[in-house]
Amino acid sequence: MSWQATILTLFPDMFPGPLGLSLAGRALGGGVWSCQTHDLRQHGLGRHRAVDDTPFGGGAGMVIRADVVDAALSAIQAPEGAPRVFLTPRGRPLRQQDVSRYAQGPGVVLLCGRFEGVDERVLEARGIEQVSIGDYVLSGGETAALVLLDACVRLLPGVMGSDESGVEESFSDGLLEYPHYTRPASWDGRDVPEVLLSGNHAAIAAWRQKQAEEITRERRPDLWSAWLDRRERNEAAAGRSGQSGRTGV
Ligand code: ADE
Repeated sequence: MSWQATILTLFPDMFPGPLGLSLAGRALGGGVWSCQTHDLRQHGLGRHRAVDDTPFGGGAGMVIRADVVDAALSAIQAPEGAPRVFLTPRGRPLRQQDVSRYAQGPGVVLLCGRFEGVDERVLEARGIEQVSIGDYVLSGGETAALVLLDACVRLLPGVMGSDESGVEESFSDGLLEYPHYTRPASWDGRDVPEVLLSGNHAAIAAWRQKQAEEITRERRPDLWSAWLDRRERNEAAAGRSGQSGRTGV
């Protein structure tokens, strides 16, 4: 059974887009995952197949109607247990742990909005998670959906070689990655850090860990303090189990 992406959108032609190429494209062709779009316009009302209406309470823009989204959800065939996700800058931030949860399931149903948003009632009533890919506003949810799918598909079994899955683990320990270098060893007057040429694997690992910590502290104070908290908790837990070992409790 392949991992199934079902996308509700006003712009079905935007899929698979860039995910039809490279690793994701090969996996799509090979049946590792499938990408099914469903045009929200099919469920629009009246001669113009309107999917949106003006917001109650006034204000700018248009809101996608609850009944239109609901009709689209009823029409699709998504695997049992696939999470439903609405891409919106109002959502909780997408994290690697969410991506990993989605990738381990049967697939996802993605709702892509345009205009001001979607009637909140259908999001609540149909258990639709609200997810943002970052603190900036895109013109619609489709490009955010492509980002989410890219992050999921690369984790599906067989999509990437073992090298790359190692990289994935190093990010999910909560630190940004150390810097990378390749030949030539000297370029434009800049030398590769000497330790990387030493062949001393323990020293290289220690240097990379230190770099990862420094870069995370500088660039992402939020990740850094979460990592410090986790380390403190782990050390406390290790201390407790060490003590209980010694006292034989
Ligand atoms: N739609 C518009 N902006 C978005 C964002 N930042 N994340 C997810 N969906 C969006």
